[in-house]
Amino acid sequence: MKTDFLWGGALAAHQFEGGWNTGGKGPSVIDVLTAGTHSTPRKITDTIEPNEFYPNHEAIDFYHRFKDDISLFAEMGLKCLRTSIAWTRIFPNGDEEVPNEEGLAFYDEVFDELLKNNIEPVITLSHFEMPLHLANEYGGFRNKKVIDYFLRFAKVVLKRYQDKVKFWMTFNEINNQMNTNNPLFLWTNSGVKVQDDEHPKELMYQVAHNELVASAKVVIEAKKINPALQIGCMLAFVPVYPYSSNPNDVMAAEEYLRQRFFFGDIHVRGEYPSYALKEFDREGYKIEITEEEKTILKEGTVDFVGFSYYMSTTVKSNHSNESDDVVSGGISQSIDNPFIKSSDWGWGIDPVGLRYSLNLLYNRYQLPLFIVENGFGQVDELTEDKKIHDSDRISYLRDHIIEMKKAVEYDGVDLIGYTPWGIIDLVSFTTGEMKKRYGMIYVDRHNDGSGSLNRYRKDSFIWYKNVIASNGKEV
Ligand code: BG6
Repeated sequence: MKTDFLWGGALAAHQFEGGWNTGGKGPSVIDVLTAGTHSTPRKITDTIEPNEFYPNHEAIDFYHRFKDDISLFAEMGLKCLRTSIAWTRIFPNGDEEVPNEEGLAFYDEVFDELLKNNIEPVITLSHFEMPLHLANEYGGFRNKKVIDYFLRFAKVVLKRYQDKVKFWMTFNEINNQMNTNNPLFLWTNSGVKVQDDEHPKELMYQVAHNELVASAKVVIEAKKINPALQIGCMLAFVPVYPYSSNPNDVMAAEEYLRQRFFFGDIHVRGEYPSYALKEFDREGYKIEITEEEKTILKEGTVDFVGFSYYMSTTVKSNHSNESDDVVSGGISQSIDNPFIKSSDWGWGIDPVGLRYSLNLLYNRYQLPLFIVENGFGQVDELTEDKKIHDSDRISYLRDHIIEMKKAVEYDGVDLIGYTPWGIIDLVSFTTGEMKKRYGMIYVDRHNDGSGSLNRYRKDSFIWYKNVIASNGKEV
């Protein structure tokens, strides 16, 4: 691996900072999400209700413990830390003229502490953290005014931290909201709830368009502030395999992959892909896209592609047994792949899928890539002598790093870095649990909010430290 390869760890403000109403911070769309489990979805409440438990409010209290946590990251030898700036620490409601200085000062302190420890901050501007006020009063990204508020926030932080942060990403996993069956994703990505008279897919494409314009405007402004800043997108990349060599399965996978590529295609190429325009026509979707916005999309293309990789999926065409003239694959999604085992939360474990994804994305976009999330959520046991023997996590990460190295060293993919998800245990996004742990540092905190919040090094901590020290030679 290149000597400047960024081995690191990834986090998101709302999942680990806590201090949800401290230092002038306002509530975000995440602050109204209750705790769920694998089988019980998180609820989105209208306001913060006294009898509900909101796990992100205190999270793991990094807000008050950041110096100690950063010293653990430094001990591990991290070269970078990917996290987000909570939008509501800077603009508590989102529509203020003037930013909250206390919030800005907090990130100065955190970034200075990281840099003092030779850890480069890598920043996501919006990791599901829209101000609740913008969602409730403006309808989130369905309202084009929110583009301006996002841009205002972005300009303030890009200017303020331009000498401390080089790599930025605009919207975390922007493509999650393609799944309109789960209300969580449109809410957390865009601050949007589907109304009865709205077509979910059409609405999703409209808010997605507004976010893509916002992202492109950020790229354009960032270059004016400092041309050295590198602005990327961030995609949830779950590659799609055909269930069989039946050409209809292959075509179904190709068609399904468009859901993965749609956002990246616009972020990178600055224009709508023809398959999307055909879909809008076919379905009768009316998406408001102005000529001026088309120019902005073209001017504000990203410098790199950040993505998360956890698993692959496999699809089967409904037409597998027919020989008729098939136009659409007629996908029935997520067929079990007999070659892939799953975690306790049903996430398939497929290291080769990471190499495959790196090749797919690099060949399509020819831009540097950054793996900004990868990891294994599992239950960990703290032993009586305060150890955590997380050999399954080590195997998962080891196997993925081996495939990543093949993509770089054999296939020639240009890769900036690798930041495994949840380098320290944090609140799970989809379930709100603490029990689904990703960290290499254990945090004594449980689903119901109990626990001392003490930190303990897991076996994976020692293992990853050595991976970094050997620049990936010893895995
Ligand atoms: C990604 C998100 O979806 O995956 C993270 O960017 C999230 O915020 C991570 O935590 C893992 O998902 P989960 O639901 O297991 O926490």
